Amino acid sequence: MSNDRNFDDLAHRFTDNIYGSPKGQIRLAILKEDLDSFLSRFPENTCLRVLDAGCGLGYMALYLAERGHEVVLCDHSAEMLQRARQTFAEQAPGANVTFIESPVQSLPQHVDGKFDLVLFHAVLEWVTQPQQVLQQLLALLQPNGYFSLLFYNRNSLVFRNLLRGNFRKVASEQYAGDPNSLTPTNPLIPEDVYGWLESMGLSILSRTGVRMLYDYLPRDILEQRSLEDILEMERRHCRQNAFIDLGRYVHILSQLKV
Ligand SMILES: C[S@@+](CC[C@H](N)C(=O)[O-])C[C@H]1O[C@@H](n2cnc3c(N)ncnc32)[C@H](O)[C@@H]1O
Repeated sequence: MSNDRNFDDLAHRFTDNIYGSPKGQIRLAILKEDLDSFLSRFPENTCLRVLDAGCGLGYMALYLAERGHEVVLCDHSAEMLQRARQTFAEQAPGANVTFIESPVQSLPQHVDGKFDLVLFHAVLEWVTQPQQVLQQLLALLQPNGYFSLLFYNRNSLVFRNLLRGNFRKVASEQYAGDPNSLTPTNPLIPEDVYGWLESMGLSILSRTGVRMLYDYLPRDILEQRSLEDILEMERRHCRQNAFIDLGRYVHILSQLKV
């Protein structure tokens, strides 16, 4: 069991508000580019064993399954997992896929063997004991295995509030979302996360600031610019040091050193 946020009651809003919106489209597009660039290091026809921990709707696992990789999807929300199952049935009926309804903390009871790549996307900011969960997940990685971590960046909330002149809010340093909202309960500070990964024996291979532009644009600019134009600007800047830690999310690809 875990006390972490279960998305059973948020599944509907998550599907519409996150993936049915430009925000979700930008996030997916940038993450797919990061993963494509990562996968290009392997010979063609390599089949990786991939775990998508806290998979939600399972879109990234679907992307990898469509490229021939074996995927294991885990979520403790029956509702989210059901939606992922349905997506796979419709879009990738022949995929090599396993679904596990469980907290990620209990995964060792449900899986045999280790993984070449573990995805942990937009979950760390919802768990009550982030470092402990990271340790548990890393124990499921092969020696020299890869870890793809996406987390909700507290800096982006600070900066957005600064830009809006919400100085009282900034001074309060209170950024945890309301338990019923889609704002995470534990937004994370990038330096903390980088330090945790390094102390756990991971080398950081790449970092990307996901939505380092879109979330700051005023409404009138959002109305004037096409999604494609904004995405192009995101692409140009999101992997530059000056902007990475301003992304609404930060995506880190790292490798276990043993
Ligand atoms: C914001 S969603 C992210 C889903 C997906 N990874 C993505 O990037 O779109 C967070 C997901 O993590 C799941 N989750 C949270 N804590 C979990 C835990 N301890 N074990 C398994 N799943 C968890 C929730 O049920 C939810 O589906």
